[in-house]
Amino acid sequence: MAKALVIGGHGTIGQAVVAKLREQGINVITAGRTSGDYKFDMTDPASIATLFAEIGELDHVVVAAGATHYAALPELKPEDNLTSVNGKLLGQVNTVLIGQHRLNAKGSFTLVSGILKDYPIARGASSSMVNGAIDAFVHAAAFELPRGIRLNSVSPTVLTESAEKYADYFKGFDPVPADKVANAFVRSVLGIETGRTYYVYG
Ligand SMILES: NC(=O)c1ccc[n+]([C@@H]2O[C@H](COP(=O)([O-])OP(=O)(O)OC[C@H]3O[C@@H](n4cnc5c(N)ncnc54)[C@H](OP(=O)(O)O)[C@@H]3O)[C@@H](O)[C@H]2O)c1
Repeated sequence: MAKALVIGGHGTIGQAVVAKLREQGINVITAGRTSGDYKFDMTDPASIATLFAEIGELDHVVVAAGATHYAALPELKPEDNLTSVNGKLLGQVNTVLIGQHRLNAKGSFTLVSGILKDYPIARGASSSMVNGAIDAFVHAAAFELPRGIRLNSVSPTVLTESAEKYADYFKGFDPVPADKVANAFVRSVLGIETGRTYYVYG
């Protein structure tokens, strides 16, 4: 049975991905800072390395985690921006850099970016920046991964489950249910494509 790690598997997107992968007969384990089968911090490369060493044999990695900083541009400080870079961008990139040496042949990585890359909102420049970088990394790095390992990203719009929380930010956006976003992750994990971003924009 294939084994998949879902980072952020207890979050809004992660829970839906875990459920869908289990429906497909995948052995799913989860990791988070305070939740999941394994506790680690994606912003710390040493912690990522320890996580992969502890897990051992693994076929697929899904990331459904990563914080970004929302602020109006005049108030956006260089140090605030590092929250987005370290939390969402480098956390995911480092998961691939470290995990590529651990995954079984023909395994996969699926990262998460987001709609702000293509449709900006007020206070979202830092988030737009890292989402674009994540997808650009995926489009390039996928072609250099060893042993047939694939790499894709999912770029969702705001989720129905998160719409209230982000109501002040995503005015006029059509939310999509977590179930639909999770399907894009399943396509990435179980499909044959690599270097691709799956857009779930409603
Ligand atoms: N929700 C949306 O509408 C939406 C739309 C587009 C894109 N996205 C993106 O999708 C990702 C997940 O969003 P979400 O709404 O599902 O988030 P969420 O509900 O807050 O869940 C995030 C999950 O990630 C884990 N996590 C966070 N930081 C971590 C770290 N440094 N190391 C390890 N685990 C960490 C959390 O576990 P612990 O609490 O245990 O650490 C939690 O399980 C984010 O990158 C977000 O930008 C979300």
